[in-house]
Amino acid sequence: MKIIKSPEEMQRIALDLKRSGKTIGFVPTMGFLHEGHLSLMRVARSQCDVLVVSIFVNPTQFGPNEDLDAYPRDFERDEQLCESELADIVFYPESGNMFAGDASVWVDEDALSGVLCGESRPGHFRGVCTVVAKLFNLVQPDLAVFGEKDAQQLRIIERMVRDLNFPVQIIRGPIIREADGLAMSSRNKYLTAEQRKNALCLRKALDLASERMAKGERRVSNLRKSMVDLIDAVPEAEVDYIEFADDGTLEPLKNISGRTLVALAVKFGATRLIDNAVLIP
Ligand code: PAJ
Repeated sequence: MKIIKSPEEMQRIALDLKRSGKTIGFVPTMGFLHEGHLSLMRVARSQCDVLVVSIFVNPTQFGPNEDLDAYPRDFERDEQLCESELADIVFYPESGNMFAGDASVWVDEDALSGVLCGESRPGHFRGVCTVVAKLFNLVQPDLAVFGEKDAQQLRIIERMVRDLNFPVQIIRGPIIREADGLAMSSRNKYLTAEQRKNALCLRKALDLASERMAKGERRVSNLRKSMVDLIDAVPEAEVDYIEFADDGTLEPLKNISGRTLVALAVKFGATRLIDNAVLIP
């Protein structure tokens, strides 16, 4: 397994691989890897000749009051995990080499990015789209795997690929959870033991919505209220948003009639967790 730090070298190697007829599978990450990331690597590994994993804590997707400096990092452990998943290349650039100090070109998706996480994190998806577009240009993947854990991000990347004609197939990987149901996240590390227990309310609220929907409830206001009540009763949990959106357009819904993305963000102190489910009536 090769570790490549230079963007120019990454691109040169990727172009050479393509010229020699190899297919490249890609999993972009911000590191501090867990089973969720590894599951995406396994999906990619089974469908390509060369597996590239990137580890880059992208400064442009963090807001001024967010956790960029505190974001957990452990490159040695990540490297071992990539090796055990049979990655061929780990692309591990430094921030200064990825973005010129006077970088002035950005990729802005402007239909799906304003709602859900985009509302609480202005500029976040501009940073995500820009770095993913750059990574695609450097890694030259035939396919790239993204997790349903970040459902909005995944749909925005699919839109970017469609609208800018990137020659990349996007594959969706399912949400990987801890045994008790908490969605795996690098940010779970910030939780105290008490908060970790209380964080189960995200999954419980999603389950409650799907149970009530299965029993016939279609009004979003009712479903949403039962989720808010459940979370409000949990110590320290503060709802950032709970939204029901059309799974294709992410437009907010009043009633459920087709595939619906129910997504939520809940804060425990400074730690903000997200989770989601797709409801199919
Ligand atoms: P990061 O949060 O490290 O996530 C990298 C990939 O792992 C994303 O596609 C994310 O959806 C997926 N993932 C995270 N937790 C998961 C889980 N529990 N189950 C399944 N997949 C999971 O998302 C990013 O980094 C960045 O925004 C990035 C795309 C790398 C751009 O900087």
